[in-house]
Amino acid sequence: MIVGVIGSGTMGSGIAQVAATAGNMVLLHDADPTALKVSADKLSRILDRLIEKGRMDNEEKSRIQNNINYVSELGDLSNSEIVIEAIVENLEIKQNLFRELESKLNDDTIIATNTSSLSVAAIASALKKPERCLGIHFFNPVPLMKLVELIPAIQTDDDFVKKAQHLLNSWGKTIAVAKDTPGFIVNRVARPFYSESLRIYEEGMAEVHEIDESLKQLGGFRMGPFELMDYIGNDINYAVTESVFSAFYYDPRYKPSFTQKKLVEANYLGRKSGKGYYSYDEQSKKIIDKEGTLDEVRGQMILDRILVMLINEAADAVYLNIASVDDIDSAMTNGVNYPKGLLKWADEKGMAWCVNAMDTLYDEYHEGRYRCSTLLRRMLRENKTFY
Ligand code: NAI
Repeated sequence: MIVGVIGSGTMGSGIAQVAATAGNMVLLHDADPTALKVSADKLSRILDRLIEKGRMDNEEKSRIQNNINYVSELGDLSNSEIVIEAIVENLEIKQNLFRELESKLNDDTIIATNTSSLSVAAIASALKKPERCLGIHFFNPVPLMKLVELIPAIQTDDDFVKKAQHLLNSWGKTIAVAKDTPGFIVNRVARPFYSESLRIYEEGMAEVHEIDESLKQLGGFRMGPFELMDYIGNDINYAVTESVFSAFYYDPRYKPSFTQKKLVEANYLGRKSGKGYYSYDEQSKKIIDKEGTLDEVRGQMILDRILVMLINEAADAVYLNIASVDDIDSAMTNGVNYPKGLLKWADEKGMAWCVNAMDTLYDEYHEGRYRCSTLLRRMLRENKTFY
């Protein structure tokens, strides 16, 4: 299959690498010729590192490089059977690109967007044939992260979804199908990991490092929420939170935090700026200034509160038909490396525990943010489990 990729930045370059490695012919286009050169150089360095590690030989490197053609004109993509767009996150710019692109492609070429926060229906609406458009949301770094969220818009024809699924399977990706709603699966269900941790910190219940340690030591998460926010970049994480909040018509469950806003305003962006919730040395290594043994009882309380908020969000995503139980659990374990699927975790904890923990929070705060998902309550009543 001939795969067109538009935008040769972080994501587009990763997508091109994966497609080329799987043996597809790739046409990689960027409006900026320098970006194409940077992408080609970066790929060469990445492949050299894989050779050093003994994961591939020079022949394989040449094969992958030869599979990618760097093209400077949009018209050069005309033979593509699928085009995946990974340009700036701006609806108008994406729509303008899609309008121009469609006139240069065959009628049955799939046009996909890697958007992480825009409506796929809105992007597709720019096309004369919107039924060929869908969202294919990759995770960074694309070659390492197995998960891909596949998002059919309301206009999308199922045949195109099946073709895209087939291609992504051949790339070794794990697919989770999501409804075209804000944040899709991962960026929606993961919100409480950050927001509830921030809330606990803002209330003065615990220090940043205590919250991180609770989730890591007692919950089995690979990174704590504050370490992760520093890693992602507080500016990026805050922007996602704000966009999800407004896209959900200001549902209090997704309310952003002033603590995070202040960090962004102060340019404490995390690893990339040397300071965030933690400080970092020149090699971006965390400088540990506070340590101590974790009080297990407090740690468990912190973990339980964040965990039940995550479970509640995952359950609500099932309730609202955003995705299947399997796909939600797979998205969180493959997309953000959670130690266990949240719905599997709900079963283990029991519906009574989940409902009771949510109701206890609601009784204390009386904020809509802590409302228990209707589905959890219904499942408790009907004595049901997710699996
Ligand atoms: P980036 O800034 O690294 O790369 C974007 C590239 O697109 C640049 O090289 C730019 O020159 C090019 N470009 C801009 N407008 C263009 C146009 N009209 N025609 C052709 N090329 C154009 O951006 P990044 O991080 O790769 O993100 C790309 C898309 O992927 C965005 O929609 C973003 O929301 C989404 N995304 C990003 C993730 C991430 O972690 N960076 C994760 C998942 C999705």
